[in-house]
Amino acid sequence: MRRKLVIGNWKMNGNRAGNTALLSGILAGLNDFGADCAVCVPAPYLAQCQAELQDSPLAWGGQDLSVHASGAYTGEVSAGMLVDFGSRYVLCGHSERRAYHKEGSELVAQKTVAALAAGLTPVVCVGETLEQREAGETEAVICGQLQAVLDVIVADDLAKIVVAYEPVWAIGTGKTATPQIAQDAHAFLRARMAQKNAPVAAGVQILYGGSMKPDNAKELMAQQDIDGGLIGGAALKAVDFLGIIQAI
Ligand code: G3H
Repeated sequence: MRRKLVIGNWKMNGNRAGNTALLSGILAGLNDFGADCAVCVPAPYLAQCQAELQDSPLAWGGQDLSVHASGAYTGEVSAGMLVDFGSRYVLCGHSERRAYHKEGSELVAQKTVAALAAGLTPVVCVGETLEQREAGETEAVICGQLQAVLDVIVADDLAKIVVAYEPVWAIGTGKTATPQIAQDAHAFLRARMAQKNAPVAAGVQILYGGSMKPDNAKELMAQQDIDGGLIGGAALKAVDFLGIIQAI
């Protein structure tokens, strides 16, 4: 039985006062829903999360990391730095990193390895664009993105990663994948992981991301291979984020 996991990805949003209001609003409504919950925040706010979420049921993490441990890499944030501020998770290869920062699957795979080496849980994001879906390339695209990671991690480390399926056409568009479309992709991804380590693949949490909201979360998360959500816009309001968690 896989535990559900809901992660809020704040993207480049927030400010000190607003974050405090959002986090306290979430904590006020966060009872024991039998799920894991976290927020992935801009790096400058990790210290704030550490101060305000310590000993709470809400974990936190980063949205990206460097493949390097330290050195002359201006602007980069290492896995060790994320750990220093109590992070548990880090997103790897979010589609916005792939699109706007030209991150390829090999780089994403190296970032996954760097996260694992530091004891973080990498959330490996995969997903196809609308153009790729319409060209019938969905499985080839997400398989390639996942396989790059599977090729570089040891079989046992599969138990330490989370996968997020985020169809690019559903991100921030209000256009959610149907539960069946999402389930098909999730089942496909799990089957690919099973080729590396079948017993472990059965336990890997696969999150859906892309316009998940309180009113569609229940049906999505009821699917056999959907183990939670990676939430963008709806993670910026406590009532919406809690509404998704409560839909589990
Ligand atoms: O990381 C989160 C995803 O990009 C989903 O964003 O919920 O705003 O569509 P969204």
